[in-house]
Amino acid sequence: MKFFIDTANLAEIKEAYDLGVLDGVTTNPSLMAKEGISGDSNVRAHYKAICDIVDDKVSAEVISTDFDGMIREGKELAKIDDKIVVKIPMIKDGVKAIKYFHSEGIRTNCTLVFSSGQAILAAKAGATYLSPFIGRLDDISYDGLELIEQIVHIYHTYGFATEVLAASVRHTMHLIKCAEIGADVVTCPLKVITGLLKHPLTDSGLAQFLADHAKAAGK
Ligand code: E4P
Repeated sequence: MKFFIDTANLAEIKEAYDLGVLDGVTTNPSLMAKEGISGDSNVRAHYKAICDIVDDKVSAEVISTDFDGMIREGKELAKIDDKIVVKIPMIKDGVKAIKYFHSEGIRTNCTLVFSSGQAILAAKAGATYLSPFIGRLDDISYDGLELIEQIVHIYHTYGFATEVLAASVRHTMHLIKCAEIGADVVTCPLKVITGLLKHPLTDSGLAQFLADHAKAAGK
């Protein structure tokens, strides 16, 4: 299972990378705006800075919603660095753009996926990654994890090469359940990755070991 971090914050990306478990980064226009990044050249420079931290797989999202615009923008993004994966929304022209980029050997991440039907379309078009949004479905009383399970089943049944990238992951249980289901990738905030470290028995056990060691040493 791959771990991607879902942020455009360089310090958080560095912290996750330094932990040694990071496989990639996902961003979106809202996350870029949250970091105060705007304007084409600043956006490009920021993507480059992210690519310089991690080994591979940095999702950079197009803003255009028409085919020609997505192709133009996606090509520009892909030129920034070989690590870039072009992120395309699940809309009609987006499916066409995914097909185009697939034929050009440019990796894509199909985003804003909320149904199995959308997942089938993206896989048939040749998306490298598919991002179903768990938390946003949970927010409106649909079961986000159930969608991940359905898509994993469909992709395995037909041998689709597209990897299921579980997105909009809000807490550690989302991540753990995705692992049980067999999602290929999970993208989440830093606090979800570091949240996996926590267990009260680890903390109390360590405190006891250190105390016993100090006692034996006569300290
Ligand atoms: C995925 O690529 C999206 O950037 C992200 O996971 C959305 O998460 P949110 O619903 O917490 O904004």
